[in-house]
Amino acid sequence: MHGAVVLGASGLVGQRLQQRLANHPMFIVRALAGSQRTAGIDPSELPWGLEGQAPSLELPPVLDVQDPGLVERLHGLGVSWAFSAVPSDVALTLEPRLVEGGIRVCSNASAYRRRSDIPLVVADVNPHHLQTRPVGSVLHACATNCTLIPLLMPYLALHRAFGVRTYTATSEQARSGAGYGLLRGEVPLTFDIPGEAEKTMGELTWIAGDLHEGTVHPSTIDGEMRCQRVDQADGHIIDVVFELSNHATQPDVEAALDAFATHPDAAGLPSAPHRPMMRVAGPIDRDRHLWADGLSFPMHVNPANDLQAGMATVVGDVRMDGPRHVRLRSLSHNTVRGAAGGVVLLAELASTRWA
Ligand SMILES: NC(=O)c1ccc[n+]([C@@H]2O[C@H](COP(=O)([O-])OP(=O)(O)OC[C@H]3O[C@@H](n4cnc5c(N)ncnc54)[C@H](OP(=O)(O)O)[C@@H]3O)[C@@H](O)[C@H]2O)c1
Repeated sequence: MHGAVVLGASGLVGQRLQQRLANHPMFIVRALAGSQRTAGIDPSELPWGLEGQAPSLELPPVLDVQDPGLVERLHGLGVSWAFSAVPSDVALTLEPRLVEGGIRVCSNASAYRRRSDIPLVVADVNPHHLQTRPVGSVLHACATNCTLIPLLMPYLALHRAFGVRTYTATSEQARSGAGYGLLRGEVPLTFDIPGEAEKTMGELTWIAGDLHEGTVHPSTIDGEMRCQRVDQADGHIIDVVFELSNHATQPDVEAALDAFATHPDAAGLPSAPHRPMMRVAGPIDRDRHLWADGLSFPMHVNPANDLQAGMATVVGDVRMDGPRHVRLRSLSHNTVRGAAGGVVLLAELASTRWA
């Protein structure tokens, strides 16, 4: 078992991480860390904001990420892995400090995404990008933005089958995508999400890019995107039209979506869903499809045990607008697949590669 610290433990993603690691077969949480606001608090006193009980973990008081002796304290607690769910500006200095101290870091923050020396990985899609150089000396990897997932899965399925010339997407993003503040109504709901579209479109070019001699060469992908918030608790939906390079029929398109499979390197990992994407014949239902696991749509999930639940993207309302335009809607659980579940899956993969 690898000892782990959750950075940003009072936050929404930090608590999803604790939930997913509570009974994990490869990782055990040995410490929590946060800002000076929560440092020193007994972990059982952090307010729990997710469905179900807080995991009962016997842990020391919350560590302060600013503590100059943090790395030594983590080593003393048997921590060799960090799951990062702190704001990006905090991650910028915290994550390299841990990596330099010999702690492996898997991050949900955006600070080190799209860097030539740090892999950006969706484990069941581009696991080979973990070989981005200098692997072995820098044990640091990032998961993607939550909004990318429902765009990425159908994009790749259609691009591999027919080529995609361009896409036009609009997101409908849940409140939990902006953390507990917006989920709990402590900050006002605004519909515009500045910078989100550029981030998402940029990450698509990286994940779809080729790896040559340890360097990722991002793809050139033509697209347009608009990102907006909706007044829903969980789940990001993308409404998208893909323009294909080659003609296709509705059955061809459905077959290509259905054939999209887990990369063999990730198959069998505890958090890998049976399939990364499921297709429904009719419309997407946010409540019914949120916890898709690649085989079914479970309704009464225990996220601390059901590691595959919420990890599959669901596409629906698939239809052709002429022979080269595919219109569909796509749903992903943003705090599970798009955040904590995605980064735990990444760590599961990385633990098979990193010494
Ligand atoms: N929500 C999502 O769907 C989602 C998806 C993908 C990625 N992410 C990324 O995950 C990270 C966390 O997001 P969230 O949704 O969990 O937000 P959140 O609910 O607002 O939680 C923020 C966390 O950051 C910590 N924090 C704030 N300022 C800090 C500081 N100066 N030093 C150390 N810790 C500090 C807070 O800890 P204290 O209480 O101790 O201050 C809290 O635990 C962000 O980088 C976000 O972009 C989120």
